[in-house]
Amino acid sequence: MRLPTHLAIIMDGNGRWAEQRGKSRSHGHIKGTRVAKTIIQECSRKGIKYLTLYAFSTENWLRPKSEVSILMKILKKYLKKETSNLIKENIRFETIGDRTQLPSDVAEAIDHSQKATAQCTGMKLIFALSYGSRQEITSAIRDMAELVEKGLLRSQDISAETVSAFLQTRETPDPDLILRTSGEKRLSNFLLWQAAYSEFCFSAKLWPEFTKEDLTLVLQDYGLRERRFGQVKSMENHEQLTH
Ligand code: FPP
Repeated sequence: MRLPTHLAIIMDGNGRWAEQRGKSRSHGHIKGTRVAKTIIQECSRKGIKYLTLYAFSTENWLRPKSEVSILMKILKKYLKKETSNLIKENIRFETIGDRTQLPSDVAEAIDHSQKATAQCTGMKLIFALSYGSRQEITSAIRDMAELVEKGLLRSQDISAETVSAFLQTRETPDPDLILRTSGEKRLSNFLLWQAAYSEFCFSAKLWPEFTKEDLTLVLQDYGLRERRFGQVKSMENHEQLTH
């Protein structure tokens, strides 16, 4: 089966899952983290090369302080507990987003996990944390403008590849498939530039109830899709169809 090289997931629905059960939103985030652990392991075992998880957006800072603080605690605990498992699974951990906004203990935990897994050669796991795509693109434009001002970059030499090279995702191929759970059908400021030719998949399941089997179905569905990148069917496909 053809797998996406890069799968990106918007893990949505933790709050609703908890509310439906009369529990606190943090309960939903804790269950969501358990699901994330399962899905990370499953993606790595299936042979996915890059997995990006939208764990905290720039807009999430506007949530009540208590929820933000719990999410930060969960994140730190995840990194403390799971880094040895990531090494065991040969998973390399990285983040995208504005690390300067994160509490210093969380930033330190990220640093530690990143260094500890730097030699891993299997799947690259990327947490989008304090991440916003518009902010990422704005910062890339600012960096390019600075080089133009200094005479180090000519504006006529700026191509789409140049822009990609100034984004935080420069070392990761664009996502082949973006999955969002909970029935919402939005990108919510996630990988806007990188999603130009991504396939999309929307699951009605809330993230805490998403399973390994659901992932398999999503990947099977992706495997059946024909990607054209704005072009016509390849001759190979064309020949298969006409013979
Ligand atoms: C969306 O649910 C989820 C988030 C804002 C955070 C995602 C975080 C986790 C799954 C836990 C941390 C992850 C890891 C991998 C350590 P929501 O709260 O927006 O749900 P709602 O739309 O139902 O309110």
